Amino acid sequence: MEDIILSRRSVRRFQEKPLEDHHLSDILEAARWAPSWGNLQCCELVVVKQNTIKSELAAMLSAKNPATKCMANAPLVFAVCGTPQKSGYYKGKQVTRYEHWFLYDLGLVSQNICLKAWELGIGSVIVGSFDHKKAEKLLKVPEGYELVSLIPVGYPDHKPPTPKRKEMNDFVHFDTFS
Ligand SMILES: Cc1cc2nc3c(=O)[nH]c(=O)nc-3n(C[C@H](O)[C@H](O)[C@H](O)COP(=O)(O)O)c2cc1C
Repeated sequence: MEDIILSRRSVRRFQEKPLEDHHLSDILEAARWAPSWGNLQCCELVVVKQNTIKSELAAMLSAKNPATKCMANAPLVFAVCGTPQKSGYYKGKQVTRYEHWFLYDLGLVSQNICLKAWELGIGSVIVGSFDHKKAEKLLKVPEGYELVSLIPVGYPDHKPPTPKRKEMNDFVHFDTFS
């Protein structure tokens, strides 16, 4: 079997086929089991299937964003939301240098979504560049929550090329950084 981590690619062109319900359940189950700060599980997912909503989301990406078309054409889009002041906070106080650990947690959920999808033969692309405020309004994200990324998913209609990665020597340090 091919390695899911090595073979996964961002997919931005999908077949018209809707996502099978059991595939959606498997992906959501993978999302549920992502690690999180203190197991606080600050992530909330909106599963968007309605074509009108997907098209309106697509209009909130810049025309140059390579994911703009697929946002409207994908059979399903996950909107990855979270509560900003939970992870990394204790009794309402920030307890580490970083105030945005929730982004880390949401990243882990997103990775679980993308890898499980790929294992099932489903492509995905994480999209972080869009008008967040407008999209939150459209999706009725309540006060106290933030929408961070959109992940269109669907059965791929092509095999994307493999982008380059740094060599190990270029980012791995042993024992000390320098
Ligand atoms: C946080 C984040 C935000 C991203 N935002 C976008 C985006 O707005 N549009 C897009 O087409 N791809 C986006 N991507 C996908 C990256 O471009 C892609 O992962 C990268 O080029 C490596 O390609 P690969 O995923 O096929 O290995 C994003 C990826 C991440 C992790």
